[in-house]
Amino acid sequence: MIDHPKILITRKYPAAGINLLEQERFRLTFWDQDRPMTPEELAAEAKDHQALLCTLTDRIDKPFLDRCSHLEIISQFAVGYDNIDIPEATRKKIPVGFTPDAMSEATADIAFGLMIAAARKFFFLHKTILTGQWGHFNPTGHLGFELKGKTLGILGLGRIGIKMAQRCSAAYDMPVIYHNRNRNLAAEKQLGARHVPLDQLLEQSDILSVHCALTPETRHIFDARAFRKMKPSAVFINTARGPIHHEPDLIEALNQKQIWGAGLDVTDPEPMAKDNPLLSMENVCVLPHVGSGTMEARDQMSVLAAQNIIEFYNTGKVPHIVNPEVLA
Ligand code: DGY
Repeated sequence: MIDHPKILITRKYPAAGINLLEQERFRLTFWDQDRPMTPEELAAEAKDHQALLCTLTDRIDKPFLDRCSHLEIISQFAVGYDNIDIPEATRKKIPVGFTPDAMSEATADIAFGLMIAAARKFFFLHKTILTGQWGHFNPTGHLGFELKGKTLGILGLGRIGIKMAQRCSAAYDMPVIYHNRNRNLAAEKQLGARHVPLDQLLEQSDILSVHCALTPETRHIFDARAFRKMKPSAVFINTARGPIHHEPDLIEALNQKQIWGAGLDVTDPEPMAKDNPLLSMENVCVLPHVGSGTMEARDQMSVLAAQNIIEFYNTGKVPHIVNPEVLA
């Protein structure tokens, strides 16, 4: 590399990846405040940089890309990239890197944990202790249900969905059904997973766990109609993106007992308001978008995000790229 490109680093990312960039002698600019930049700040800061290391809270939309069409690469620290206008980046010939698989184990753990937590009302029961309501042993109070043999439904049986399915199958012998655009034959072979139409997924799942990307097709796919089709005993789990469910419809479905409970690591909007009715529901467990929040996953994400930039400048290739047609 003759010139050392300038990279704008939009948050404090783990050192594992940042060290790699420093070793390659890129010129790094760090946004050092403990909050995402506003769109105005982001565009102003990015102006004299060649590369951007960003994440899901950075809005990389058309107005930003119009102002920053000089960017040579955008490297996203996340597997999801719904914050980026990919068609527009592609039109402007900007490659977009991302960090697939780094967080699959971590996110599947959160989905699996939320499933158990909702089925046994963990968060609600914890609150009863905090509010001094731990009374006598109650033979019929706050009963949950067992997961053994229940049917797991997965929307989006990809890298993370399969890890969730493996956990549920190994721990509770849960049969797996799924709905994908394309069948996952490897998962069908390995887990006996059965591909079903979306309506059957809704009607037959005891636990319905969402692992698809947020796209125009999946935005609000879980709305009043979908929740009406689900079993009254079903638990809805979303660790993917909040807008995949329509939150007012989810609240209504829970209030009307159309479904039994929910486990959410993602909400719409984020952060969730502290008086959101979901937070006081007995059968609902909510976490603040921490699916990838392990040291291992975040280190690996930072390494992959850095490697996407390093390889791009050293070889012209981006190992994990969303829009390969830009480099073709
Ligand atoms: C992702 O990677 O898309 C997660 O939501 C954040 O780690």
